[in-house]
Amino acid sequence: MVQENVVVEHRIMVPPHLAGEVVEVFAGEHTVTDAVARLRDASGALHDLTMMQVWPVRVPRPYHEKVSATEPLVTGTRVIDTFFPVVKGGVACIPGPFGAGKTVTQHQIAKWSNAEIVVFIGCGERGNEMTDVLMEFPELTDPYSGQPLMKRTVLVANTSNMPVAAREASVYTGITMAEYFRDMGYNVVLQADSTSRWAEAMREISGRLEEMPGDEGFPAYLGTRLASFYERAGKVRALGSDGREGSVTVVGSVSPPGGDLSEPVVQNTLRVVKVFWALQDQLAFQRHFPAIDWLTSYSLYLDKVTPHWSEQVSPEFRSRRDEAMAILQREAELAEIVRLVGVEALSPEERVLMETAKSIREDFLQQNAFRDDDQFSSLKEQDALLGVILLFRDKALEALSRGASLDAIFAAPVRERIARAKYLSAEDLAEFDAIASDIETQLVGGEDEEPAAMYAGGER
Ligand SMILES: Nc1ncnc2c1ncn2[C@@H]1O[C@H](COP(=O)(O)OP(=O)(O)O)[C@@H](O)[C@H]1O
Ligand SMILES: [Mg+2]
Repeated sequence: MVQENVVVEHRIMVPPHLAGEVVEVFAGEHTVTDAVARLRDASGALHDLTMMQVWPVRVPRPYHEKVSATEPLVTGTRVIDTFFPVVKGGVACIPGPFGAGKTVTQHQIAKWSNAEIVVFIGCGERGNEMTDVLMEFPELTDPYSGQPLMKRTVLVANTSNMPVAAREASVYTGITMAEYFRDMGYNVVLQADSTSRWAEAMREISGRLEEMPGDEGFPAYLGTRLASFYERAGKVRALGSDGREGSVTVVGSVSPPGGDLSEPVVQNTLRVVKVFWALQDQLAFQRHFPAIDWLTSYSLYLDKVTPHWSEQVSPEFRSRRDEAMAILQREAELAEIVRLVGVEALSPEERVLMETAKSIREDFLQQNAFRDDDQFSSLKEQDALLGVILLFRDKALEALSRGASLDAIFAAPVRERIARAKYLSAEDLAEFDAIASDIETQLVGGEDEEPAAMYAGGER
């Protein structure tokens, strides 16, 4: 083993297709091409092992077997972790029009996710974004190791001004490096920004080769290429006798022209990924960030992560999540009615629902990637935050049924505290209990004492 840097231990592996017994180890200082050990295979032949491996990048590196991936990849971004989670070893895509927040979202994942290694492929996008990463990451601290973030990060830079053939090379090089660290037993996150630029390169090269064009001029093999790329993700038991497990999570951004989701790259990607974070320019215009549309996004890992959530976060997390989601969906239906006939058409209970949905959107889903106290939420914080938002709803309904006025309920000072709760730090979990007791006292009061203001001249 070689200490690559303070964070990463570079484990020297016997290359795939070789097996045998290590008969000699050469201690001392070596370059990566020097022999550091000698292996005798079953036939008695000797092989020198080096600290590097040569691998054809288009070929997936072999593993012993795929294993089921159930552990969530924590990204610290609430809309992702709570609503549309991805697992370590999972596949996700972020489609969205220009400026909707694909790159920012991927940078957030690179910065905060609980993976040991991050491979970031900047593929055909603006060079200054890669420069930003290069300047910023050495300054940032990895929340898990406390070391500069750059130490766990591999950057594959291939910007818009480089020849298009380099795009394909960068994607395959990146995924191969990710597999290489996976084989050492690490959890790796690979991000490709943007897979559309790679697809465009395929189209251009295929055109020059005068191949038969398929949908919108993309080659007919676009779908297979994308699929075989994403299929290299997964959690595996590595080759070798010690049963090491590692994973590669793949997150690809897709930038369809005009944000058109029916376009071939998006469609072919959707066929293979299990998580879909749909960025919407409408939300970005409203400065609702991350602009992930909760009504169209999905995650097929929800049931997989639920046992982990129940054990490690709280038994209520999943049901809170589902309830919040249902409220948001109901809001969309009611919004239609409000648009047609005005808010007066809603019952007081429906008005409470609308306010709760607003609170979920503003106090929970919106998350500023550029605020130190907001960019990362632990799962426990996410659960607690959702907990107080839903508790307010419960108590609001209770107050309503006891005759309180809507205006008084919505004016409860505790709402201010709920709105600021997302800025609490992970050490302040107890604060959420304090907020909960504020909700209780302000909305329904204690045993024999009702909060007077709430019920004075109440009119439903
Ligand atoms: N989570 C976020 N928090 C704050 N601002 C954001 C967030 N996501 C995106 N933005 C804003 O949107 C802009 C465009 O985002 P970017 O990721 O570069 O878009 P894309 O890669 O989709 O073209 C950013 O420069 C930033 O101002
Ligand atoms: Mg971008």
